[in-house]
Formats: sequence, C-alpha cells, structure tokens
Amino acid sequence: MRTIRGPGAMAAASALWRQRGLSVGFVPTMGALHEGHVSLVRRARAENRRVAVSIFVNPAQFGPQEDYRRYPRTLPADLARCRRAGADAVFCPEAGGVYPEGFSTQVEVRGLSDRLCGRFRPGHFKGVATVVLKLLNIVRPHAAYFGEKDFQQLVVIRRMAADLDLPVRVVGCPIIRESDGLAMSSRNRYLGREERSLAPLLHGALAWGARQPRGATPAVLLAGVRKRILRVPGISIDYVSLVDGRDLTDARARADGQRLLAAVRLGGTRLIDNVEVA
Ligand code: PAJ
Repeated sequence: MRTIRGPGAMAAASALWRQRGLSVGFVPTMGALHEGHVSLVRRARAENRRVAVSIFVNPAQFGPQEDYRRYPRTLPADLARCRRAGADAVFCPEAGGVYPEGFSTQVEVRGLSDRLCGRFRPGHFKGVATVVLKLLNIVRPHAAYFGEKDFQQLVVIRRMAADLDLPVRVVGCPIIRESDGLAMSSRNRYLGREERSLAPLLHGALAWGARQPRGATPAVLLAGVRKRILRVPGISIDYVSLVDGRDLTDARARADGQRLLAAVRLGGTRLIDNVEVA
C-alpha cells in the first residue's frame, strides 16, 4: 500500500491504473477511521481492481465555531486499518496542496444543502461538495463510496455527480453501528462515559419511528420520536425530520422511500443518525 501526499502523484498513480484497464474504487474520508469507514473500503475492494482512500480533514466544511482544530487525527492507526482492509493507496494531502494560494472556486448544490444539517451548519455542504469534486477530479475513480450515515451528504453528492455529468458511479453503503445501536462516528470519541451510555437512545427513538404503522401520520410519528429523544437528560434537538429519501423534501403523507433523520447535541457533541422508513 502506498501513502501519497501530492495531488499530482495521486493523479499519476490512478492514471496508470486506468491505462492498464484496472477499475478504480475511491473512498473519501477525514480519517479517525472506524469500522464504518472500513466497510466502505471493503466494498470498494470487492467491486474494483484498485482502491484509493483519501484522508483529509477538510477545513472548508467546518464552521468557525466547530471542531476543526480538535477533530481527531490518528494517521498511523488509519494507515494500518486501510492496509488491513485492502487499500492500494492512501492519499493524505496537506491543506496547502488542496487549497493553494489563490484558490477561489466553490461548488454549491442549491436547495439540498440548505435544509436539515445545512440550516445548522451554513456553508458545510458547499465545503463538502467542493472538496469531493476536487478529490474525484484528482483520483478519477470509476466508483466512489459514501456512507448512508451522512445521508444528506450522499444525496448532495449524487445530485452534484448527476448535474455536472461526473463520470463516476456514486455508491451508497449501509450504516455500521455499535452493538448497542449507536452509529459509528469519528466524533463518538468526544462523548463522556455518561453521554456514551445515553447516546444509543437516539437510534432507539428513530428505530421506534421506523416501526410505526402507515396509519401514523408524519406529525404523529415525529412527535413520538422527539418525545423519546428528549427523555435523555441534557440532550437538545437540532431537527427530527421525515423526508423523501431522493430529494430530502418534507414528507406530507406517508409513502415509500422515506427516511427519518435526526441531529442532536449531547453535551458538546453533535450526533446525527437516520433510518429507512418502510
Ligand atoms: P467522514 O466523516 O470521515 O466519513 C467518510 C465516509 O464514511 C462518509 O461517506 C461517511 O458517510 C462514511 N461513514 C461514516 N460513519 C459511517 C458508519 N457508521 N457507517 C457507514 N459509513 C460511515 O464524510 C466525510 O468524512 C467528509 O464529509 C468527506 C466526504 C470525506 C469530505 O470531506
């Protein structure tokens, strides 16, 4: 497995693979890797002849009051995980390599980026779309793998890929959870012991919502989920929403293809999770 720092070297390695007729799978990450990330690398490994992973804590997707500085950075352990999961190359650029002096372009996926998490993290999805487009242009993979954990992000990237005719297959992958239901996340390590023991209630509340019969209207379902989340002492809700899974518009009535999403704050930690609703 190669560790590559420069965008030019990454582009050259991937170009060589493509010239040799090898399919390339790509998994963008911000590091602090866990089994959720590893599941994406394994999926890419199973579906492609070559696999590249990127590890880059992207300053452009963090707000001024957010955790960019303290975001966990665990590169040696991350590289070991990538190697075990079968990556061929890990691209870990410097911020100056991704955003050189004079950088001034931004990609905005309008509408989709303003709702749900976008309301609480202005500019976040602009930062995500911009860096993902850059990474895709550097690596030029045949397929790129994203987790449903960040469901809105997945929908935003799918929209960008379709709108800009990107020659890449965007693959959504299921959420990997701890045994108590908590969705794995690099940010879970911020949770104190007490908070960590309460955090699975978020998934519990969403799973309850997903079990409600079609007769339960969106309003009734959402009220029940909120009530269950608020049983956790010290928790606050950014949003709980039932949306159409394709375009993230609010569900007016129950229908197929809906997704129940929530973002909460537990102590100083922001947690997001979502479930499919049948
Ligand atoms: P990061 O939070 O490191 O996540 C990288 C990828 O791993 C994302 O596609 C995310 O949805 C997926 N992932 C995280 N936790 C998961 C879980 N429990 N189960 C399944 N997949 C999971 O998302 C980002 O980084 C960044 O925004 C990025 C796309 C790299 C752009 O900077």
